[in-house]
Amino acid sequence: MKTPRTLGTPLSPTATKVMLLGSGELGKEVIIALQRLGVEVIAVDRYPNAPGHQVAHRAHVINMTDGDALAALIEQEKPDLVVPEIEAIATDKLAELEQAGKITCIPTARAAQLTMNREGIRRLAAETLGLATSPYRFASSLEELRAGADAVGFPCVVKPVMSSSGKGQSKIDSADEVQAAWDYAAAGSRVDSGRVIVEGFIDFDYEITLLTVRSLGEDGQVVTQFCDPIGHVQVQGDYVESWQPCRMHPAALERARDIAGKVTADLGGLGLFGVELFVKDEMVWFSEVSPRPHDTGMVTMATQVQSEFELHAKAILGLPVNVALKSPGASAVIYGQHEAAGIAFEGVAEALRVPHSDIRLFGKPESFARRRMGVALATADDVDTARINAKLAASRVKPVLGS
Ligand SMILES: Nc1ncnc2c1ncn2[C@@H]1O[C@H](COP(=O)(O)OP(=O)(O)OP(=O)(O)O)[C@@H](O)[C@H]1O
Ligand SMILES: [Mg+2]
Repeated sequence: MKTPRTLGTPLSPTATKVMLLGSGELGKEVIIALQRLGVEVIAVDRYPNAPGHQVAHRAHVINMTDGDALAALIEQEKPDLVVPEIEAIATDKLAELEQAGKITCIPTARAAQLTMNREGIRRLAAETLGLATSPYRFASSLEELRAGADAVGFPCVVKPVMSSSGKGQSKIDSADEVQAAWDYAAAGSRVDSGRVIVEGFIDFDYEITLLTVRSLGEDGQVVTQFCDPIGHVQVQGDYVESWQPCRMHPAALERARDIAGKVTADLGGLGLFGVELFVKDEMVWFSEVSPRPHDTGMVTMATQVQSEFELHAKAILGLPVNVALKSPGASAVIYGQHEAAGIAFEGVAEALRVPHSDIRLFGKPESFARRRMGVALATADDVDTARINAKLAASRVKPVLGS
C-alpha cells in the first residue's frame, strides 16, 4: 500500500500532491479535507469552474475519457496520488500507468476499471465472490434483451452498463415494454456501447449505503471499518434524501457488513467505499459499490465526527480514521429547477432557521431542472425529526434566475 511518507508544504518541493479526476460536489469536499492537511490539490474536470476547481491549487479542464490527454496531464503534474471521483475515466490508461509504477491510483486502478462498467462489478460480486444479487443478464441487442428479460422475469430493471444517477434506466412490467427500455438505455448510456444489464426487480423494504473504509492500522496492516448504515430514497435512480443511522435488523446489518467487507477486500487499496445494498427483513442483496465517497453519504457532513470526505482524505494518505457517529441526521437534495447559467438562491437564511440545519451550495456554474445544486443537512435526537427538518430546509431554498 503506497502512501506518502510525509505531508509536505503545498507549492514547495516537499509538497504532497493529490490529483482529483472529477471535481463535482463530492470531489470539492474531498479537496477541502485535503487542503486542511496542507496537501497540494490538482482538480480536473471536463468543464471549467467545476465545484472542486474553485477550492483547489490548480484546475484543469480535459476530457478524462481520453487516455492520452489524461496521461499527459499526469506526466505534467506528477501527483503522489490519483483519485478518481467519477466513473467516466480512461481507467485502462490508469491501469497501464499503475502497472508501470508511474502512479498510485485510489483505491486501485482495477477497482476503478471494474466499477465503471456494471458488468465488471456485477460478475465479480455474484460470480467470483458469490454474493447475493438480483438475478441478471447482459444484452448487446434487442433480441438478447428480450431473452434476458424473460430469463430474469418481470418486473425487471434495464440499465446501460455504463451510466450513473439512473440515466437510461427503466423498470418494465411486461415484454411489451422491452423495446422502449432498449431505446431509452441507448439514449442514456455514457458511452454508446449498446450493452445493457437487465436485473430482476428486488422488492426490498429499504436500501442502504454502507460506507466502508480501508485505512492503515498502527502495524501497517489494512483495517476495515464500517460507518453506521445510511438509508436513502431514490427517485428515477437518483438520490433525493438520506439519513443516518438507518435502523436495521441486527442480522441484516451483520450480512451487510459481511458483503461490504468481502467486496472492498477484493477491490483493495486504501480509501472509502460506498456499498449499496437492498434489504428485506433479514435478507441483503449487493447492488453496486463506489470506490469513493457516495452522494447519499453527504449526510455524514452533519452526522459523523469525520465526514465521508475526511475519512477518504485521511485513509488515502495512510492516516488513521474515526468512523463514529456524532448525531442522527438527514440530508435532502436542492435541485436547480431552472435551465440556466449563473442562477441565484433565495431563502438561505430561512432555511438555516430550521433547528440544527445546515446548507451546502455547490457553486455549479450551470443549472438544470434536475441537477443537484446543493444539499440541506439536519441533525436531531431522532432520524425522523432530522428527515423532516432537512426536507424543510431544502424546500426553503429557492433557485431563481439571475437578473
Ligand atoms: N434490481 C433492482 N431492484 C429494485 N430496485 C432497483 C434495482 N436496480 C436499481 N434499483 C433502484 O434504482 C436505484 C439506482 O440504481 P443503480 O444504483 O443501479 O443505478 P445508478 O445509475 O448507478 O445510480 P447511482 O449512480 O445514483 O448510484 C437503486 O438505488 C434502487 O433504488
Ligand atoms: Mg446506485
